[in-house]
Amino acid sequence: MAKINRNYLKLQGSYLFSTIGKKVREYSEKNPRAEIIRLGIGDVTKPLSESVTDALHKAVTEMGNEETFKGYAPDLGYEFLRKVISEKDFKERGCDIDADEIFISDGAKCDCGNIQEIFGVENRVAVCDPVYPVYVDSNVMAGRTGEYDAGTGRFKDVIYMPCSAENGFTPEIPDETPDLIYLCFPNNPTGAVIKKDKLQKWVDNANEKGSVILYDAAYEAYISEEDVPHSIYECEGARNCAIEFRSFSKTAGFTGLRLGFTVIPKDLKVENECLWDLWARRHGTKYNGAPYIVQRAGEAVYSEKGRKEVRTQIEYYMGNAKIILNGLKEAGYTVSGGVNAPYIWLKTPGNMTSWEFFDELLTKANVVGTPGSGFGPNGEHYFRLTAFGNREKTKEAINRIKMM
Ligand SMILES: Cc1ncc(COP(=O)(O)O)c(C=O)c1O
Repeated sequence: MAKINRNYLKLQGSYLFSTIGKKVREYSEKNPRAEIIRLGIGDVTKPLSESVTDALHKAVTEMGNEETFKGYAPDLGYEFLRKVISEKDFKERGCDIDADEIFISDGAKCDCGNIQEIFGVENRVAVCDPVYPVYVDSNVMAGRTGEYDAGTGRFKDVIYMPCSAENGFTPEIPDETPDLIYLCFPNNPTGAVIKKDKLQKWVDNANEKGSVILYDAAYEAYISEEDVPHSIYECEGARNCAIEFRSFSKTAGFTGLRLGFTVIPKDLKVENECLWDLWARRHGTKYNGAPYIVQRAGEAVYSEKGRKEVRTQIEYYMGNAKIILNGLKEAGYTVSGGVNAPYIWLKTPGNMTSWEFFDELLTKANVVGTPGSGFGPNGEHYFRLTAFGNREKTKEAINRIKMM
């Protein structure tokens, strides 16, 4: 008789976005005239840039022509894309990452979720609290955690690293030694960043203890301050202890097009085995690559014109972030994030729970955000707003919040 993977039964329902959707639907039905502004969802709203759509059209034409048609892509992805990534994202920033150390994929979510497969089930995992849920759930599915404890809101056998106002929402190195450490900077949901000297301490500690850092840099393009690293490979020794994930989703509006990549330096060894070899094997066995036309679109993002266009988009979103950040500060809220990230993290007023504030914002301002408690117990009494909306609606939302 077939058996299921019972680890899936430990997973908690993904209540967050379904509960938000349900509450908003119910409110709209009762108040059909209410003009609801959504600043909750982490999806972009600006269309693809001209360089990207031109590259897509050109690649589609190639695919329809016998001389230029492409079938399966090379296992690691096309060299034209890996080369330009290695140059522009890494070598230009002084990071020694070769094109052959880059694995092209259809996005960072899959890679962040799948990477744990190349590690033994007995590894101890450390995550931030609050956290992007993929890191935890993918390890639950693999059987790397104990049961969920409803009392604490946490899975047993996971090392949770609290991120709070006291530590600037960047975790401290835990007392227990983890084997795998998930770090995400700029952070979703808090919008916090880690300075280079602090990240260097994580790298040094990982090299000393033999841990591997799984570094999610999906929002790297939003960094505006000088002393904030764009890549973990800006730190000395990171080639020996870190894997990095990148995404074109928020950088260039590819959430619907799908493109990302993972960097595994060839020096990175665990138990004397190269992780590059294991991931290459996994990639080759279970994945057939991102489409040629999408990889050509990704290449176009790095052209001079493409870079200018995506910069304009990011500046637009970060203009929204500034409006939200300054507006909330003027209204007396305690806020952080929003300077190097498209997320604004605010403390709920009067010690309201995250969900109480959600209801208040929905009913009094007709604005939808995301309750911080949905990202982990340490997110309770916090709330996330995103800068991915339209400028006029963002301004209107902040005016309404000010009048609450
Ligand atoms: C921290 C983080 N990592 C990864 C992703 C997923 O990116 P992709 O669209 O490339 O799968 C997201 C998307 O919201 C994210 O917030």
